Amino acid sequence: MSIEDTPHAEGRPTREISVTVNGEEVTREVEPRLKLSDFLRNECDLRGVRVGCEHGVCGACTVSLDGDTVKSCLLYAVQAEDLAVETVEGLAEDGQLHPIQEAFHEEHALQCGFCTSGFVMATKSLLEENPDPERDEIKEGLADNICRCTGYQNIYRAVDRAADKLSDDIEAVRTGADGEEGA
Ligand code: FES
Ligand code: FES
Repeated sequence: MSIEDTPHAEGRPTREISVTVNGEEVTREVEPRLKLSDFLRNECDLRGVRVGCEHGVCGACTVSLDGDTVKSCLLYAVQAEDLAVETVEGLAEDGQLHPIQEAFHEEHALQCGFCTSGFVMATKSLLEENPDPERDEIKEGLADNICRCTGYQNIYRAVDRAADKLSDDIEAVRTGADGEEGA
């Protein structure tokens, strides 16, 4: 088929969807075949969602969908309609990195960084389920993500550090709350 014979995009069916992305409602007219990963990258300009294998193997595209950790290359954008998506861009607050992001930075848990946002999102999910994982549990929790650059040791250390930071945060909130109660 010559390029002139290629069907024009305007001729294809589309559907309007609304998705809450990092707390903001996004409404777009999309083709039903558009992957959620491409929707997030190209329609929402969230380039922290990486596309590696596009087959659900590498985990680079990992995001949270209504609290579940998913590989966004395995879903269509229309499947996220009326649901809430969180990407790595949604983690920082008021210009302050999330403790998991800080831990990855401090442990230098990356080389090229292509896989990092997927690992950060997977770590968030892991620590929400298990705030103090053993090394074997960390390995199992991150098994759906592949880093092609590293020996993983810095990533595992970053998860340990993130767990410590998050438990310190919880303790600080608890102590603060106790202080208020005691005042
Ligand atoms: S790009 Fe989605 S798992 Fe690899
Ligand atoms: S740091 Fe390069 S793929 Fe993980």
